[in-house]
Amino acid sequence: MATFINEPSRTFNEYLLIPGYSSAECIPANVSLKTPLVKFKKGEQSSITMNIPMVSAIMQAVSNDTLAVALAKEGGVAFIYGAQSIESEAEMVRRTKAYKAGFVQSDSNLSINSTLKDVIALKNKTGHTTVAVTEDGTSNSKLLGIVTSRDYRLSRMTEDTKVSEFMTPFEKLVYGKEGITLSEANDLLWNHKLNALPIISDDGRLAYFVFRKDYDNHKEYKDELLDSSKRYVVGAGINTRDYEQRVPALVEAGADVLCIDSSEGFSEWQKITLGWIKEKYGEDVKVGAGNVVDAEGFRFLADAGADFVKVGIGGGSICITRETKGIGRGQATSVIEVCRERDKYFEQTGVYIPVCSDGGIVYDHHITLALAMGADFVMLGRYFARFDESPSDKVSISGTYYKEYWGEGSARARNWQRYDLGGDKKLSFEEGVDSYVPYAGALKDNVAITLSKIRSTMCNCGSLNLNDFKKDAKLTLVSATSIVEGSAHDVMKKDSSLTRV
Ligand code: IMP
Repeated sequence: MATFINEPSRTFNEYLLIPGYSSAECIPANVSLKTPLVKFKKGEQSSITMNIPMVSAIMQAVSNDTLAVALAKEGGVAFIYGAQSIESEAEMVRRTKAYKAGFVQSDSNLSINSTLKDVIALKNKTGHTTVAVTEDGTSNSKLLGIVTSRDYRLSRMTEDTKVSEFMTPFEKLVYGKEGITLSEANDLLWNHKLNALPIISDDGRLAYFVFRKDYDNHKEYKDELLDSSKRYVVGAGINTRDYEQRVPALVEAGADVLCIDSSEGFSEWQKITLGWIKEKYGEDVKVGAGNVVDAEGFRFLADAGADFVKVGIGGGSICITRETKGIGRGQATSVIEVCRERDKYFEQTGVYIPVCSDGGIVYDHHITLALAMGADFVMLGRYFARFDESPSDKVSISGTYYKEYWGEGSARARNWQRYDLGGDKKLSFEEGVDSYVPYAGALKDNVAITLSKIRSTMCNCGSLNLNDFKKDAKLTLVSATSIVEGSAHDVMKKDSSLTRV
């Protein structure tokens, strides 16, 4: 006879937090959201501690290097999507690691044989007024001069005038040497009243520009997540098929942490993949695994060597796994059970394995609930897909902006490795949809609001850090009727369709 669990599994929406005693020091400014990303032994610290409990989903529509930089600036970690070639995934990791706030690779470059006509065409294309004239016209060759809009007048020059006749030649340029700090570069910009400062490598090649207009953005991000060489921390997705090639390429590119991306983690494939990585790299390479939804699944991955365990099947916003395959579990119940097992495992072995609640976050307060239930951090897809920094297109539909967002199990993503159970390399049916999500602007602004809500709720519950919150939070199940009561009710909300006379 099969095993039956007759208690219904629950979602986040079925729970609320009950406030606890808040002392006078319980103010949002005093709340720390630091949380471990990878496993650690009792009495030690995780080798990667995030400053906020948020990571981005391993999805084509979510996590590229642009989003990775934006999220690391806020203190979280992006997992670059794995459903692309090994080379392009490694390149995204490399670009994130190479990113230096305020140091920009030149995107407007011409060779010395170019003319004023080329300068104007480039300016129209990029919208940028500073053009680097380099030996071979690329962004990284020897810098010969710079053209800005102050160097030419269309009324006084013909379009075929060579750039060499009106550029500021290298000998007359003020420049910084590669290795200069951002604050030194800013001093040069201000002292010499420049708009752009070229940064030159030891062998005379153009490395970056630092622009005066970006000055405000250069101010430090107080929560930014950096490695020991002051580069942004970034993660990357892997699969259980090509890990022998993909893992070395990602490690070489500088990935700080990897994660096996799979819809179902309680499988021999994950054990083999984790075993191979730990055998080759020991504890030097950190790798998360998942997804599981119960204690047994957690134990299996913990024993197989996972550095964190990801929880969630069927709760993702673009997910149709439950209706196509009939597998899954309410996200709240899954998180609660797995976190209990994590605590038991910690007591027994002295090893703490962080738990990530993946998918199904609809409202900001669901993140707070996941943390109260014991999750160390949450992974979000829909949430991040809405922002400027995600890789998908922004489209206008009936005057409202949306971003495209599609599941890794959709025909569009064709990420068959994620659903791989051995056998043919194909996706015989879909487990995800292609969709739109309302465009929401910059990541920074949205994350700030989300975090302020989490901090505020933690204060209401009397907790100043996530460890205390996990231990002290009091949660209550709510009835279907009280869920209705949970948002505005029995009033007519004011909106533009109502005309008062
Ligand atoms: P969201 O934050 O609710 O949008 O969920 C994102 C999560 O959904 C991801 O981190 C994955 O675990 C999961 N996911 C991504 N693509 C698919 C899919 O096509 N089908 C089912 N689950 C998916």
